[in-house]
Amino acid sequence: MCGIVGYIGHRNAYDIVIKGLKLLEYRGYDSAGITLLDNKTYLYKKKGKVSDLEESIKDLPKGGTLGMGHTRWATHGEPNDTNAHPHQSQNGKFIVVHNGIIENYADLKKTLLEKDYSFKSETDTEVFANLLEYFYLQGNMSAEETVRMALSRVVGAYGLVILCADEQDKIITARKGSPLVIGIGQGEYFVASDATPIVEYTKSVIYLNDDDVAVISRDGLQLKTIKSSQSIQPHIQEVDLNIGELDKGGYDHFMLKEIHEQPRSIADTFRGRILPDCSDISLGGLHEVWPKINNARRIIIVACGTSWHAGLVGEYLFEEYARIPVEVEYGSEFRYRNPIIYPDDVVIAISQSGETADTLAAIRIAKAQGALVLGICNVVGSSIPRETHAGVYTHAGPEIGVASTKAFTAQVTILTMMALKLASNRGTISQDKYRMAIKELTIIPEKIERALGSNEYIQYVSEKLKDSTNSIYLGRGYLYPVALEGALKLKEISYIHAEGYPAAEMKHGPIALIDEQMPVVVVATKDSSYEKIVSNIQEVKARKGIIIAIVTEGDTIIKNMAQYVIEVPETAEFLSPILSVIPLQLLSYYIAVMRGSNVDQPRNLAKSVTVE
Ligand code: AGP
Ligand code: GLU
Repeated sequence: MCGIVGYIGHRNAYDIVIKGLKLLEYRGYDSAGITLLDNKTYLYKKKGKVSDLEESIKDLPKGGTLGMGHTRWATHGEPNDTNAHPHQSQNGKFIVVHNGIIENYADLKKTLLEKDYSFKSETDTEVFANLLEYFYLQGNMSAEETVRMALSRVVGAYGLVILCADEQDKIITARKGSPLVIGIGQGEYFVASDATPIVEYTKSVIYLNDDDVAVISRDGLQLKTIKSSQSIQPHIQEVDLNIGELDKGGYDHFMLKEIHEQPRSIADTFRGRILPDCSDISLGGLHEVWPKINNARRIIIVACGTSWHAGLVGEYLFEEYARIPVEVEYGSEFRYRNPIIYPDDVVIAISQSGETADTLAAIRIAKAQGALVLGICNVVGSSIPRETHAGVYTHAGPEIGVASTKAFTAQVTILTMMALKLASNRGTISQDKYRMAIKELTIIPEKIERALGSNEYIQYVSEKLKDSTNSIYLGRGYLYPVALEGALKLKEISYIHAEGYPAAEMKHGPIALIDEQMPVVVVATKDSSYEKIVSNIQEVKARKGIIIAIVTEGDTIIKNMAQYVIEVPETAEFLSPILSVIPLQLLSYYIAVMRGSNVDQPRNLAKSVTVE
């Protein structure tokens, strides 16, 4: 959810922390704060963006080689200066930044109030800071022992970085449920909620596991767990993330850059996984588990948001090609409804971040009940890939814009490869058809490049639609999930209400909404349900709706019916989601820009939802 950065070493901590917070701002951005230890403690925090914090402290002291910072995505208490992190305990002994939720904060707070603690903020985090201090002042414990003891009383999810005023040369971090990465430099250490702010300085990292507590000083790091004071051997890995991937590359927004990156990101997704003669697909991460997948009774896909939409495309793909029944579940529903899971089920979790709390909880349930659990994730080393039995990375590169674009097309690309390979393994596709399908997939990047060529016309259409308050998105078959995804994109960044619907369902309700003010975006490229969707367009036209259609190049039938027609190149039906979503991404982007929205950081949203 939020972004955390910590530093201990020989450089100016402020510079590193503030720069890191800017790189992590996409994770949470309702307020920001920073603490620096330089014999004295400096604590600055501010509602708003990291730049607001920077501006407000430009003339204040910022020395010291130890510091930490936070960008918040509020769960407990509104975004304001007081609720912003870091939080300091009542007598100033502990300072804490926190990602996640302390679920039993109310009970802990009650106890602390009885012990005469008072609270400045409404946050659960301040309760934890005071809990630390309370234990610390009770007995003869070091800061580390205090942290481990306090955490044994905490229920919830957290990534924590903790400073103790009495131990000024140490950073203590702990994780349960919310990611934390430690970067190892020469006589310096970095802590962050993901590797993004670290890679400029070092590629050697340790991903903390749940229940880990790390005590970091300039000359070393000790890894322990909440339960045990015994040091454990950290697993040091090299991260493969390029700093150049983290800037906007000349585009106005990350989202636009990421939309335009798709020809390359999709090629990166299948690169090395398709034999040069297109005769076969090889997904290294699944080698060992294919026998089990081949014999699956059922595939259950769990995901949230855009990744759930990719999952729906997966359902169509697996059922059509591999002939295995598929269910697509929201992580949040699956985890709480006592689902029936058989040991010969295969569960696939789809997640860009690999950290979504509901998806993570869903796979834990599936694992506990004996299913094979696979992951399709973008962020290497994130929690879902680490907890699944096997999986495939999407390799789309870092996605910074909160609205997911290239991650979606990469997820669908992986699902397409999995479905085709599974069909080939099970003999439910002929080898000729298999080869042709693979070949079609390899030329998708060029077609996306062409689809991106409608940029200017889409800006023209966006201008016409930007003042709408409502809209409907329709599609059928493979294009129904695309309609849902198009509607979600519009909602999240332009704040225009959008309903995604299967086109034929419209007559069972939403058709009542249609009048001459209502934009209806129809995804209607040439496929097996083309005639049917043409009839649905007629139904909209008869009620005077404003029709914006995504069609196959050269379509004349729909051109005569719709006010606006955006063309995409012709492709095989099973690949149409990857292509037809492109104009919808651009449409939502331009409408949002024209309405003056903060496209990369839309209100109320966070890139990685690590709370349930
Ligand atoms: C996408 O535009 C959204 N911001 C959101 O729905 C997202 O897809 C969802 O939170 C799931 O995230 P994940 O893929 O990282 O698990
Ligand atoms: N629960 C904490 C708060 O509301 C942390 C939120 C976050 O992860 O940013 O302040």
